[in-house]
Amino acid sequence: MTRMDLEELSNSARIILEKNWKEGFTIPTSKLYPFQWNWDSGFTSIGLSYFNLDHAIQELESLFSGQWENGMVPHIIFHSENEKTYFPNFDFWNSNVNLGAPQKPKSSGITQPAVHGFVLENLLHKFPDNDKLLAFAKSVFPKMVNLHRFFYQYRDPEKEGLTFIFHPWESGRDNSPLWDNSLDRIAIDKDKLPHYERRDTSLAPSDERPTSYQYDRYVYLLTLGKKYKYDERAIFEESPFLIQDTLMNAVLIRSNDSLIRIGERFGFDIGEIREWQSQSKKMFSEKLWNEKLETYVVYDLRAETQVLHKEIGGLTALYAEIADEDKAQKLNRYLLNLNENGFYLCPSFDVESPLFDSKRYWRGPIWPQMNWMIYHGLKKYGFDETANIVKSDLIELVSKSGFYEYFESQKSVASNMTTGYGGGDFSWTAACTLDLLKGG
Ligand code: DGY
Repeated sequence: MTRMDLEELSNSARIILEKNWKEGFTIPTSKLYPFQWNWDSGFTSIGLSYFNLDHAIQELESLFSGQWENGMVPHIIFHSENEKTYFPNFDFWNSNVNLGAPQKPKSSGITQPAVHGFVLENLLHKFPDNDKLLAFAKSVFPKMVNLHRFFYQYRDPEKEGLTFIFHPWESGRDNSPLWDNSLDRIAIDKDKLPHYERRDTSLAPSDERPTSYQYDRYVYLLTLGKKYKYDERAIFEESPFLIQDTLMNAVLIRSNDSLIRIGERFGFDIGEIREWQSQSKKMFSEKLWNEKLETYVVYDLRAETQVLHKEIGGLTALYAEIADEDKAQKLNRYLLNLNENGFYLCPSFDVESPLFDSKRYWRGPIWPQMNWMIYHGLKKYGFDETANIVKSDLIELVSKSGFYEYFESQKSVASNMTTGYGGGDFSWTAACTLDLLKGG
């Protein structure tokens, strides 16, 4: 690509981020996701900082305005109660059954990957002397530590060092085949499941979205959380779905590192974070590595077993610098093989599995924010060649198809396509592309 093309791509990214900005926060995309999503906001804040640091700060501020008393930051903040195009909306979640959930803004009752520590560090790295950012960092730091404490207190009640999720939406990888067996164990009694109407499949093609079999189970788990008033102890006792996820834990570990460095800089007490960190890194390596598959895998706490699939969450261990040299080499080789075999990097699921589906959401497509994390992870280990493929594949996909939510992973299929999948003009796609073009 010429410099002109790259300039044009950066400008388009900026225009999308400006368009998706809604008085204090950014929507991921119009219609399909019309509110503020937790980990989307983190990546978006990095993108906003290139042209409007105030907005980058406000993005995180408004996200943390939805923080619960127990420290949880919900996965959706419903800043507007009038927007009707989304299911499940604030009234279906009814999160105020939990007395620690703010009355305003309304929110969902589950969380998402804790990207905020590394996002804040990214902003501080770019603007080390900006007074407004420094003041914000000092005020938001204790809130971020509170969020991490929520994970270690409630999502790791046995004090293992690994936190669990109780809903696939928490992992960010909603319909990954990783959850198939665990969801299969949930028998749905249609008469007892509340009536609901999906909105996503009228806004995006249904073969790019989760199935109705999966949606019934998402609604079941949501309803279970609500029944127990989103009380974390009860959920730990009662949920049939409890998983120690690779991505969730790797992101938390990566953000722990950032919070340690930020805390040191500002003179905060970071003893507690250091303790979490050393135990988490050790347990992640011991419990989630699978030598036969040569990758990290998720652990199903209810079935008491590793879930034996190669998928993209395992690769985020690179970004968190959990992998030793030997394991990192294996992950790098896995990516190089995919590249040599006609795939864009990084497919979200094992391309050799019968469960692989290159267009259906988290069962195979390429996801921009994952490329961003894996790019930075590979760089840390000195795998510059692979890192550059991860970066240039994303830039190629975006420049030929637009700023979509996710993309076809098979080059032979993508070569006949002029669009990506899911929502268009997508905020984290714009933000991650912009950052890779400018800084990465
Ligand atoms: C959705 O609505 O598809 C989201 O991924 C759930 O938060």
